[in-house]
Amino acid sequence: MRDYQVGVVVGSLRRHSFNRKLAATIVKLGPPEFSFRPLQISDLPLYNRDDDDNPAEPVKRLKAEILASDGILFVTPEYNRSMPGVLKNALDHASRPYGQSAWAGKPAGVLGITIGAAGTSMAQQHLRNVLVYLDMPTLAQPEIFLQAREGFFAADGSIASADTRKLLQGWLDRYLAWVTRFAG
Ligand SMILES: Cc1cc2nc3c(=O)[nH]c(=O)nc-3n(C[C@H](O)[C@H](O)[C@H](O)COP(=O)(O)O)c2cc1C
Repeated sequence: MRDYQVGVVVGSLRRHSFNRKLAATIVKLGPPEFSFRPLQISDLPLYNRDDDDNPAEPVKRLKAEILASDGILFVTPEYNRSMPGVLKNALDHASRPYGQSAWAGKPAGVLGITIGAAGTSMAQQHLRNVLVYLDMPTLAQPEIFLQAREGFFAADGSIASADTRKLLQGWLDRYLAWVTRFAG
């Protein structure tokens, strides 16, 4: 059986980001043949089409890491009922120059957590819209909408509730099966 690599993009730059904690927890639930690589987006410049012929080093790095990945897992907060600009900026960067997108064909998974009761549902839906255009086959079900209530994370950063961990394990199992379906 071969090994698989999943790139993980977190849509928050915040030091104590709930979404980064969620990503750190979920990657521990995968079987050993899957490795997870955080894809850094914090050092990308703002996308400017003038730079398409001469991309900055962080842009080249991001695109190479995406191309080396068998799947991409997005873990994002919701900002003003959509995805944060830093995530959209990363999506735009790696989609260009036209015809040289790094995202195309990579099986995607979408997760998110927020303090709001709607659990990033609108951000996830906006993100899915973009992923369809980028030609990324995206796991449709199950969807997971998480609210970061008091006590959601234990002191060590893990997810406190066994039921939520079970829910996430089921989601990850489905997503990793989705990745293997598309991997060459
Ligand atoms: C600019 C901004 C806009 C936000 N808009 C929403 C929103 O539309 N829906 C929501 O549930 N939470 C919203 N929030 C709250 C974030 O979901 C919350 O700050 C969350 O902790 C961010 O994720 P992080 O902890 O991974 O950084 C917003 C926060 C910011 C800073």
